Amino acid sequence: MEKHLLSINDLSASEAIQILNTASELSKISDGPMKKLPTLRGRTVVNLFFEDSTRTRISFESAAKRLSADVINFSAKGSSVSKGESLKDTAQTLQAMGADAVVIRHGASGAAQRLADSGWISASVINAGDGTHEHPTQALLDAYTIRSKFPDLKDNFNGLKVAIVGDILHSRVARSNVLLLSKLGAKITLVAPPTLIPVGVTDWDVDVSYDLDSAILNADVVMMLRIQSERMAASFFPSEREYSRGYGLDLARLNSLKDSTIVMHPGPMNRGLEISAESADSHKSVVLAQVSNGVLVRMAVLYQLLGGAALTGEVGA
Ligand code: CP
Repeated sequence: MEKHLLSINDLSASEAIQILNTASELSKISDGPMKKLPTLRGRTVVNLFFEDSTRTRISFESAAKRLSADVINFSAKGSSVSKGESLKDTAQTLQAMGADAVVIRHGASGAAQRLADSGWISASVINAGDGTHEHPTQALLDAYTIRSKFPDLKDNFNGLKVAIVGDILHSRVARSNVLLLSKLGAKITLVAPPTLIPVGVTDWDVDVSYDLDSAILNADVVMMLRIQSERMAASFFPSEREYSRGYGLDLARLNSLKDSTIVMHPGPMNRGLEISAESADSHKSVVLAQVSNGVLVRMAVLYQLLGGAALTGEVGA
């Protein structure tokens, strides 16, 4: 694996599977008596968050602590960034504090790449979401969750049918999932109104549908996306009610799914808009499993990037 994780394009299919396998090993260890491993003792992980987050920030913090790393949480709100401090000066301050890995979330697409390429820091950089570009650890935890629900999938996802539904245009989760799931062999259909499909989608390895009812009938995985109002400078659909009627996963659509189909959502959810409460809370929903699996997958990513000690035989720390 490379020094940084900026995009799913940084990983081959076998490297991605290796991360999922490491997360599985970590899951077995975590189910045992020792919840904390000494693997990254003496290392420092900095969470550098310029945008709001609940799941990603907390799960990176939890992952690093479970590997015994020291964790520094930096949020732009309440920091000297609000006094005009630049990304360069912020990064160099963190470097001076001895960061081994910097987990960055930023509103600008390419911010993680900029930090990694800058030479300002020597730490590994992990992209925790940059603008509308990518969110690679979300895609990895989604793949891990899918594999845990379809045990026949091991080293590839050949034959798996995935519908990714909603605000594709603004979604870094959709981009990373398209890259990863297609790399693993899944067949992906993007479902959205035409206004929420990116112009360059013809270059992606996906089908596109504007009809949710037919697109989800044979899907094994239905991944609902959040409507990202904060990134919308214009109106992309006539009204929330109309969007929900055309592209929301309501009870009738939930009931039309195959028995084995799972419903995913990266969170935070707009209940009543892209997903109904019945769908979010149904037995088909794996939303909370995605959150739990996020800790394991981020442990695996930190472990592989920082070259931690062997996982086995060290639970007695
Ligand atoms: N899925 C996700 O990135 O959630 P947060 O914004 O809460 O981190």
